[in-house]
Amino acid sequence: MPDGMKVDYDGLIPNNVGLSEDARVRKALETWHPGYIDWWKDMGPDGFQESLVYLRTAISVDPKGWAKFDYVRMPEYKWGVLLAPQVEGRLIGFGAHKGEPAWQDIPGEYRGLLRRLMVIQGDTEPASVEQQRFLGKTAPSLYDLRNLFQVNVEEGRHLWAMVYLLQKYLGKDGREEAEELLKRRSGHQDSPRMLGAFNEETPDWVSFFMFTYFTDRDGKMQLEALAQSGFDPLSRTCRFMLTEEAHHMFVGETGVQRIIERTAQVMKDNAITDPNDVARIRAHGAIDLPALQRKLNLHFSLTLDLFGNEVSTNAANAYNSGLKGRYREDKLDDDHRLLDSTYKVLRPRDGEIVANDVPALSALNMRLRDDYVVDAASGVGRWNKVLEKAGINFRLTLPHVAFNRKIGEFSKSHVNPDGQVIDAATWAVNIDRWLPSSDDKLYITSLMKPVSAIGEYASWIAPPKVGIDNKPGNFEYVKLWES
Ligand SMILES: [Fe+2]
Ligand SMILES: [Fe+2]
Repeated sequence: MPDGMKVDYDGLIPNNVGLSEDARVRKALETWHPGYIDWWKDMGPDGFQESLVYLRTAISVDPKGWAKFDYVRMPEYKWGVLLAPQVEGRLIGFGAHKGEPAWQDIPGEYRGLLRRLMVIQGDTEPASVEQQRFLGKTAPSLYDLRNLFQVNVEEGRHLWAMVYLLQKYLGKDGREEAEELLKRRSGHQDSPRMLGAFNEETPDWVSFFMFTYFTDRDGKMQLEALAQSGFDPLSRTCRFMLTEEAHHMFVGETGVQRIIERTAQVMKDNAITDPNDVARIRAHGAIDLPALQRKLNLHFSLTLDLFGNEVSTNAANAYNSGLKGRYREDKLDDDHRLLDSTYKVLRPRDGEIVANDVPALSALNMRLRDDYVVDAASGVGRWNKVLEKAGINFRLTLPHVAFNRKIGEFSKSHVNPDGQVIDAATWAVNIDRWLPSSDDKLYITSLMKPVSAIGEYASWIAPPKVGIDNKPGNFEYVKLWES
């Protein structure tokens, strides 16, 4: 195995960054560690801390075969500091420093900007764990319970990843930020998490699957943009995080797909041909497709807000400074400086949605969001394949990007899912058709009963086609009562 790929498990903190020879940073992390464990016990999964969970742990950063699976109690999970291997002779790929050697340390003038980028990324990681902390109590199967916990421990590790960078490269400022990351709380009135969608509730498993599909995918886009960074340790960190993020989105995509499969099966078994025959579909404990569409509308629109204002000088500065690139910058064929180019930004004007050309540098959030929408649409297409195969006359769609927005150009407009600007009265009358209604919430909540028998699944979701780590259908993914 090449150097830097193997993980050192000897100390308290598994790592491939030579912590054993870096006394200052090792001490900072070891000082931070007890607070992290306290946070995990307070705000991580409620219950289950003694359960044995079949989890994967990184033992290498080699994309092939980096993980090993075993039963682990979550508080004993090996949270570690793992960076993708250094690329020899890597150059900065964009912005004013394009072509210069990538930085191994933070240039003095960029400390503030980088600190902010790392803190915002870091803040989302524990936030999602907090949002999901009660879901274990209503898991539809042991398989799903295990997947939830896998996502949770890896979001915990992502926090470690950002904390390492803060402590190693920003000294005292970084240590202070690392402490703050353990103090904010999702949804807290006085000290909320930094971004809106990470203060929303994840009240049920349908939301969990939509969140991991849509919101973890925002995480993917941000990590892809940061993986392009001229600050090499950040790039390497994000590259390894992306390998874990893929599983989170897999959990979301297959979770929604299994809900659809189950609904299709119930409709077929009971000769229900109208997808809007909600009462009959619900009578069999399945989730009707219109309700699923409303959940999709909610989580998609909340996630779009995470991209920030479409036109942003912060984004322009981060790009120009070589700190945050575009999605797959290294695969794009242009000058990678963007000083003379423009990009189209959607805006409401006189009751219409128009596309304005703006300087490309200031429209980078819009561009990343556009790339996100394309990426998010691919899985929706796969969900619709299931409906098509089942002969069901219903298709899930992404709502228009202007629908239900709280941030950016459309935050003051009402726009329907088809992209028509409407007035407040029309919005109010239709809101229950477009976003989860109180009736949906009551019904979905009523389905949230734990299923903990080995190999069994709740009424509203189909079993997976393949087990985790290729385990068979009767595998005990979580040993609940071990102590
Ligand atoms: Fe993450
Ligand atoms: Fe994630």
